[in-house]
Amino acid sequence: MSKKFNTIAVCGLSWGDEGKGKITDYLAQKADIVVRYNGGNNAGHTINANGIKYKFKLIPSGAPLEKEVVIGNGCVVDPMVLLDEIDNLNKLGKKVNLKLSSTAHVIFPFHIALDGLEEKTKGKYSAGTTKRGIGPTYSDKAGRWGIRVFDLVHPEILKPKLEKLFRIKKELIKIYDPDWDMNFESVFEEYKVFGEKLKPYATDTAFYLNNAIDSGKKIVFEGAQGNLLCIDHGMYPYGTSSNPNALGISAGTGIPPKKIGKIVGIIKAYTSRVGEGKFPTELFNDIAVQIREQGHEYGTVTGRPRRVGWLDLFNLKYGVMINGIDTIIITLLDALHGITPLKVCTGYELNGSKLESWPIQHEIIEKCKPIYREFDGWKKLTDEEWSELAKQGYNSLPETMKIYLQAIKEQLQIDIGMVSIGPNRNDTIVLDKNLF
Ligand code: GDP
Ligand code: IMO
Ligand code: MG
Repeated sequence: MSKKFNTIAVCGLSWGDEGKGKITDYLAQKADIVVRYNGGNNAGHTINANGIKYKFKLIPSGAPLEKEVVIGNGCVVDPMVLLDEIDNLNKLGKKVNLKLSSTAHVIFPFHIALDGLEEKTKGKYSAGTTKRGIGPTYSDKAGRWGIRVFDLVHPEILKPKLEKLFRIKKELIKIYDPDWDMNFESVFEEYKVFGEKLKPYATDTAFYLNNAIDSGKKIVFEGAQGNLLCIDHGMYPYGTSSNPNALGISAGTGIPPKKIGKIVGIIKAYTSRVGEGKFPTELFNDIAVQIREQGHEYGTVTGRPRRVGWLDLFNLKYGVMINGIDTIIITLLDALHGITPLKVCTGYELNGSKLESWPIQHEIIEKCKPIYREFDGWKKLTDEEWSELAKQGYNSLPETMKIYLQAIKEQLQIDIGMVSIGPNRNDTIVLDKNLF
């Protein structure tokens, strides 16, 4: 692990919603810059600080602290959503110190339309997307006719590119929906205005960030989604269209891998999933209802109830390997209160044999049976009592919780850097004082 660079990456190790926003905000207290490197407004990152609840889709989670925030080239940007977030922060009296990569790709209304129509057509292979146009925008990026922020902020460059793309997408959409119609001029005029508004933020962020790192600035890289949603290493096709893990940081920012100082894996004390794709530890009983309610497991972006299940250390071990995790942070431990026994999956069994590694293919995963270890749970406390325990520190935590944490540490063979026992910034216990 390199100590030379003051950079730390926050990566979700599961199916998203691990509490990346909360942890990024916490680490941002010591940072100069917070950078998003992947995804778009499919993400929903929640921060509770000083009595305010922020729900960000695009703006990096350093914004409440008025840190410099950077949206890297690996992101896809819906300009309307971004401008809305800037406006909302300004209304709260927050200065937004944003730099937006001029090579990030732009989401257009036809991408959003295609997202919904393609999902319908895919049937049982649909991922249950957020329908924000994420997949179609990354498709155009890979197809090399996508429109970037640089184009958006130069209307004379935008117009001919958009004209061509618009014509082709319109024909494509009509295959799915013959009645679909949209007027080019109105889209162009709307996006021209977005471009004018976003022009002051458009920057060569790779150059900016490399210089910032070389001059000793402290930087947090904030992942969106989670390792198991990765387009390359996740549960394809039931994931997203980017690399949400540490592998996406360099491509999504222009920062070479050797300048990434530390990689932190965020895990929940249980598993949650929004969207399609079976997972072996999923629960369908009263315990699922209890976890969902206690963890407020409803999607930040779409409001969908999240599916929940027991902690799966087998897929997390895979996440540790793929991300090269240095430290783990465990969130939502409080949300399991009052449930006993707790089960933790330590491996998968397939046709009577124990698997050596997480099988990746959904057709295999669906047939796997989880191997469980049971733990005593901890009793129910009020929010105030959890906050009080956070103030008192690790030793004050219930003994059963410490046993649960120790088992996670042993199974993953990774130290625990922090634990989170409530949604507020201060409901956090730091175990590794040198974390960042
Ligand atoms: P992200 O997408 O990884 O940033 O996570 P989300 O914000 O979508 O979902 C995590 C949810 O859990 C949010 O509502 C957070 O406010 C909340 N949260 C984070 N950490 C904790 C915790 O330790 N305890 C509780 N009760 N809630 C938490
Ligand atoms: P954060 O950053 C949880 C899921 C969707 C769907 C699949 C593809 O808050 O952790 P997409 O719209 O990306 O094409 O949808 O990925 N998904 C998320 N699930 N948290 C997220 O983000 C997600 N972003 C996408 O539900 O299954
Ligand atoms: Mg989320």
